[in-house]
Amino acid sequence: MSQKKIFLVFVAISTVSLLLHQGVNFRWTMEAFHMGCPTLRSHPSPGLKPKHTNVAFLKTHKTASTTMQNLLFRFAEWNNLTVALPIQSCGHQFCYPRPFSSRFVHPHTMPPNIITNHMHFTKGELQRLMPNNTIYITIMREPGSMFESLFGYYNQYCQSFRRVPNGSLEAFFQDPWRYYRPDEKDSMYARNTVTFDLGGDKDRPPKDKVYAKAFVAEVERVFSLVMIAEYFDESLVLLRHLLSWDLDDILYVKLNMRTSSSKRSLTPDLPEKIRSWNHLDTRLYDHFNASLWRQLSALGLACVAREVRLLRHAQEKLMRSCFGERLPLVRSAAQIKNKDLRPWQPSGKVDIVGYDLPINLSQGFSSSAQDRCLKLIIPEVQYTRVLLRTQSMRYRRGSHIRPPQQTHPQQPVRTTLPRHSQVVVHHSQPLPLAPARESGTGSTSTPSPVTQAQGRVIPVAPKNSGI
Ligand SMILES: *[C@@H]1O[C@H](CO)[C@@H](O)[C@H](O)[C@H]1NC(C)=O
Ligand SMILES: *[C@@H]1O[C@H](CO)[C@@H](O)[C@H](O)[C@H]1NC(C)=O
Ligand SMILES: *[C@@H]1O[C@H](CO)[C@@H](O)[C@H](O)[C@H]1NC(C)=O
Ligand SMILES: *[C@@H]1O[C@H](CO)[C@@H](O)[C@H](O)[C@H]1NC(C)=O
Ligand SMILES: *[C@@H]1O[C@H](CO)[C@@H](O)[C@H](O)[C@H]1NC(C)=O
Repeated sequence: MSQKKIFLVFVAISTVSLLLHQGVNFRWTMEAFHMGCPTLRSHPSPGLKPKHTNVAFLKTHKTASTTMQNLLFRFAEWNNLTVALPIQSCGHQFCYPRPFSSRFVHPHTMPPNIITNHMHFTKGELQRLMPNNTIYITIMREPGSMFESLFGYYNQYCQSFRRVPNGSLEAFFQDPWRYYRPDEKDSMYARNTVTFDLGGDKDRPPKDKVYAKAFVAEVERVFSLVMIAEYFDESLVLLRHLLSWDLDDILYVKLNMRTSSSKRSLTPDLPEKIRSWNHLDTRLYDHFNASLWRQLSALGLACVAREVRLLRHAQEKLMRSCFGERLPLVRSAAQIKNKDLRPWQPSGKVDIVGYDLPINLSQGFSSSAQDRCLKLIIPEVQYTRVLLRTQSMRYRRGSHIRPPQQTHPQQPVRTTLPRHSQVVVHHSQPLPLAPARESGTGSTSTPSPVTQAQGRVIPVAPKNSGI
């Protein structure tokens, strides 16, 4: 071999070796980067905190809170936790807008681990009901888009909105006091709705700065996490860390949305008018949006972005494994063939979209896997009923052996890896076939609306309880 050839071979070997070395270095750097982020190890694993299971989620209106509620319902179901649910005479909310009282809680759903249905927050009552180590969480949304959504959703219910000529948001803001009556039924949808939901005084005048400041501070004291609807996935990452949950626990499908034709864009002067009309909500939002971003920065924005990517990827996989390739399954309510999956429609003018199940769902899935898919998209009113029924059955079966003040149930244990989010089903309970008779509140129940059809469990559409 000539010297030239030997030299070339030497150069080639050096290059390859250098590349390999660089590659290793590169991988090492990536690994270090990942190690800087909180890991996504699966439970149980030594040294990993057990999942926190006592959660109070204060559900606010028109803030993506229905999606959060569905997530919490599913977490409770797969982990055999108890969800506090309203007595039947309260509808699917805790007699909102009356101030929350433990009398509104169905006795078969006590003592609870989780509470999430709509309520008008009263701290003392809730703290008496929930275990001492309960973590309080809520969610807020940018006041402009939130008010536009409230105005559209409740335009037939809330008198303050019904009075407005042509249902025009612009007309409302030309003279809000002409249409708004602070003490009227449903007035909480027309001003400072978040403040009201959180137990505050929605009609405190803007000049009362002391009140606004004290109220923000009080919310900050009670709630460990205030999620922000505009940064929903980022908020979920914080939630996951706060509760030591797995990625699989925070997968979701968006629920209770309007069709895009029901949404209106705001004229340029409106956002400012909305903000000053809802001055308390605005103050809360600005404060907690800033605090969300401080918390995200503390976790490391790169780590947060990575987890958000993993979340979206896992979500896509889950949707595909549940509903096949024909995405999205979003339908307007009238198009949903399965009546039981139709979300409640507030009025003829607003179209709330839902999901329909593909005919194919049952193929190749166990019934519990089907159940998991169904639960991702089942509207809140129907899910509340299903949960009350299963919990009532469990209550009757086990009330004589259950410890009366069980605040630390068996810690849930996950069996799937965080990055593989196919529908892996474990510990899910089949829905009851037989009707359960509710008791405890004087109201007798109607026969069970749960039917079993073709191996698919279908809760029958509820009577609308109004809002
Ligand atoms: C939930 O309850 C079922 C039935 O009692 C049981 O088999 C399962 O292990 C429980 N799951 C968890 C996570 O505790
Ligand atoms: C909860 O706190 C109250 C008051 O501090 C205390 O009396 C009670 O024993 C606590 N309960 C539990 C389960 O820790
Ligand atoms: C309501 O709409 C009609 C038709 O679009 C219009 O003529 C009328 O001026 C509107 N009224 C108000 C108060 O905006
Ligand atoms: C929320 O806060 C972040 C960080 O301060 C800011 O960039 C963003 O514009 C805020 N979002 C809204 C909708 O106000
Ligand atoms: C069921 O799914 C298969 C593919 O998985 C598809 O070819 C078939 O057309 C589907 N059937 C119905 C009724 O949608």
